[in-house]
Amino acid sequence: MKELAEILLTEEEIARRVQELGAEITRDYQGKELMVIGILKGALPFMADLIRQIKVPLRYDLMAVSSYGDSTRTSGAVQILKDLEMGLEGQHVLVVEDIIDTGLTLKYLLSNLQTRRPASLKVCTLLDKPSRREVEITPEYNGFVIPDRFVVGYGLDYAERFRELPMIGVLKPEVYTGK
Ligand code: PRP
Repeated sequence: MKELAEILLTEEEIARRVQELGAEITRDYQGKELMVIGILKGALPFMADLIRQIKVPLRYDLMAVSSYGDSTRTSGAVQILKDLEMGLEGQHVLVVEDIIDTGLTLKYLLSNLQTRRPASLKVCTLLDKPSRREVEITPEYNGFVIPDRFVVGYGLDYAERFRELPMIGVLKPEVYTGK
């Protein structure tokens, strides 16, 4: 892939970790039913792979939120572009994200979802960039802690491109600086 400066996680490394996360979640939710909430668009490939590694009965729903622009950055307010179709009351909810960066999106989402009175509410993220955190958020399940680099692939985009790559890589700076 000529636009990538470096491959951070190969397809095999991702698959292995997704399998481990699925096993961990399966253990923790034994005897329960899960409601998996995927946050579009980035979480789509991860969620599709993860649900097939979870061996407890589950249902899933999807939500789309706008990323905060500069003006909403300090408040962390995000706009819900597509809401859930199912209610969460009394459900064991697992939010699936591709990446946690500042934590602002998830902080807003979690407080919003909490008002729907789930029995429990946890987070599974594939990637975590703790060095960028602006608000305190600690995911219960975390695939990989990564450095503060511009990563794309496996759902992660630059200007809507590269989401389809099976691996996760660091984008060459000339791709986004245009030089
Ligand atoms: C990404 C990611 C998280 C959020 C994380 O979504 O999927 O939702 O940003 O950033 P934060 O921790 O700084 O809030 P993005 O807005 O890029 O939308 P996308 O998933 O549709 O690409």
